[in-house]
Amino acid sequence: MYVYFVVVLLVCLPALLSASTEPREHQQQLQDYFLDKSPAIPLSSYANDYSPLNNSVTNTGLPPYSQQAQRGKKLLATPFSNGHNYGYCFRNNGLGIGSDYPYFDVLSGQVKTLAMDINGCREENGLPAYAYNHADMKSLVLYMMDTSRRNITNVIMPNDPRAEATFNQGKTFFFSRRGQLDMACAHCHIDYANKNYGQQQIPPALGLPLRMPRYDSSNDTITTLHERFNQCLGYTKAKPFPLQSEALRNLEFYLLYVNNTLPLNAPGVK
Ligand code: HEC
Repeated sequence: MYVYFVVVLLVCLPALLSASTEPREHQQQLQDYFLDKSPAIPLSSYANDYSPLNNSVTNTGLPPYSQQAQRGKKLLATPFSNGHNYGYCFRNNGLGIGSDYPYFDVLSGQVKTLAMDINGCREENGLPAYAYNHADMKSLVLYMMDTSRRNITNVIMPNDPRAEATFNQGKTFFFSRRGQLDMACAHCHIDYANKNYGQQQIPPALGLPLRMPRYDSSNDTITTLHERFNQCLGYTKAKPFPLQSEALRNLEFYLLYVNNTLPLNAPGVK
């Protein structure tokens, strides 16, 4: 299977890679690329689950991730020792705000993610930051994203040259070949979108980050967006990056920005 990929990966990476395009123009080109390729598929359906499980409810009438979601809901409202809770740190008590993320923070000059702001809230309230793969961190993110399902992706590009440079770093990451297989994200998620990779269907770049985090019912675990980035890097036999590192946050910024106007549909279920 690997050999097949290496051999046929010669053409590729259409004009989309052109370095000089503005973020807005690049987003339009990418969305037009998929619209031209499959005119019958509306942009709004790209975030639908491609896994046969969909967001299926179990025979209890609840989604399969309901335990984790309940855990997140409880954590969100549990008072810290100073009487505040996470709700104090977020707009609308942290409900339905998934589409506020990621954002380019002009004060610190970097991309901020929901997980980072959860840790920021903990530290402001005298608690230690969570490791980014901590089960409680994942439950909080999963619950907050669940309350944001169907929100429209709306990543803002501030009028700040650093924001555009950050977008371009994420874009370069997405289009750069890496790993022993010398493959880019774009090879699979643009050129080979909807084709099979082994047993799995390759989801297109549109909708790609909008189902994350994902709940895996086979082993009752939550996979975050950055963990998924690393799993895909593993496909190419490239080294993983630390969760929430600058490289992965910039990639998240790029990937969500090009999905602007599409509805969120997290958590996905596998
Ligand atoms: C060799 C092909 C290949 C490459 C290269 C690749 N991916 Fe993937 N990617 C896949 C496949 C196949 C899946 C679906 C896997 C599954 O359903 O478990 C996937 C799933 C994903 C998902 C989750 C989508 C969802 O809804 O579950 C994200 C996000 C993602 N890839 C991002 C990336 C990024 C970013 C890169 C570059 C660092 C990348 N991928 C490189 C094949 C690839």
